[in-house]
Formats: sequence, C-alpha cells, structure tokens
Amino acid sequence: MLANVLKGPNVRIMEPVNLYDCDLHDGVFVGPFVEIQGAVIGAHTRISSHSFVCEGVTIGARCFIAHGVMFINDRFDAPLRDWSCQPTHVGKHTRIGSNATILPVTIGEHVIIGAGAVVTKDVPSWAVVAGNPARVLRYRTAEEIKEDLCESGS
Ligand SMILES: CC(C)(COP(=O)(O)OP(=O)(O)OC[C@H]1O[C@@H](n2cnc3c(N)ncnc32)[C@H](O)[C@@H]1OP(=O)(O)O)[C@@H](O)C(=O)NCCC(=O)NCCS
Repeated sequence: MLANVLKGPNVRIMEPVNLYDCDLHDGVFVGPFVEIQGAVIGAHTRISSHSFVCEGVTIGARCFIAHGVMFINDRFDAPLRDWSCQPTHVGKHTRIGSNATILPVTIGEHVIIGAGAVVTKDVPSWAVVAGNPARVLRYRTAEEIKEDLCESGS
C-alpha cells in the first residue's frame, strides 16, 4: 500500500510494500516487504527487503540499508500515555548491515554498522560499529571515504 508518499524522480519501489506519509528523494530504491512510515529517505539511498523505517527517521543521501533493519522511535522510557516520537538521523553514505536494530540516535556520515548490531548510542562519522550494544571497532580511513565518493560519483 502507498498512501501520501512524496516521490522524487527515478524512485523504484518493489511491491508489496507498506509506505505512508513519507518522502522519498530522487533515485531511492525500496525493496519488497519494507514498511516506511513518516520518514524521509535521501537521494539514491537503498532500503533492502524486510526493513522497517518508522516515524521520526531521516536517512541521508546514498545510504545502504541492508535486509531486515529495524528502526525504533520509542525507548519505552516513559508511560505509554506520554508517548512521543524520538527521532533518528542517519548521515549520508552510511551503510547499515542486515538485521541491525537502531534505537533513536544520531548516526554520522560514512559510517558502517555491522550485521546484527544493536545501536543504542550516537555513532560518530567514519566509525565502523558492531555488536550488542554496538561498539566502535575502528574508524574508516580517508582512502575508504574517497572510494565511497568515487563509487557514487559524488
Ligand atoms: C562489521 C563489519 C563491517 C566488519 O568490519 P571490519 O572493520 O572489517 O571488522 P573485522 O572483520 O576485522 O572484525 C573485527 C572484529 O569484529 C567482529 N565482528 C565483525 N563483524 C561483526 C558483527 N557484525 N557483529 C559482531 N562482531 C563482529 C569480528 O569477529 C572481529 O572480532 P575479533 O577482533 O574478536 O576477532 C562486517 O563484519 C559486517 O558486519 N558487515 C555487514 C555486512 C552486511 O550486513 N551486509 C548486507 C549485504 S545485503
């Protein structure tokens, strides 16, 4: 189902999906069995199958969200009646591995998040993180970042 979806040019959506109240910028790819509600997805970002992107999430340009990535907008830190959406921001050129769970945090640019990570805290730009809770394994080099930029032609 698609309801109130703003689509830039060259957006590709592989049905079945459940997308509503979201903004998909130029060249976004959305794989099958994805749900996106109230989120903004930056240009040329790929959302792979079975991922869930909830209200309050903003993903920058040229990110890669692998399969079965789950975003969360409520830490259960207040009574249910006081629910308010807790935002997550993902910087451009970031890659999130399969089956990662992302609590409401800010993730920098050119980050890599390992498969199965549970991200509970903000992640600085250029970090590679993995595990539950996710910890920084290392920082990416300027060479790696240059490769990202060459690959994407930006
Ligand atoms: C995290 C990742 C990017 C590797 O980063 P890296 O800097 O090359 O790290 P290394 O492979 O050198 O591993 C460093 C350590 O982290 C561990 N590690 C690697 N990936 C891990 C993960 N996903 N979760 C937990 N630990 C992980 C390694 O076992 C190693 O541990 P050790 O030091 O005790 O031996 C990669 O393993 C990964 O998870 N990629 C995601 C791939 C993916 O989901 N692709 C989707 C395609 S559709």
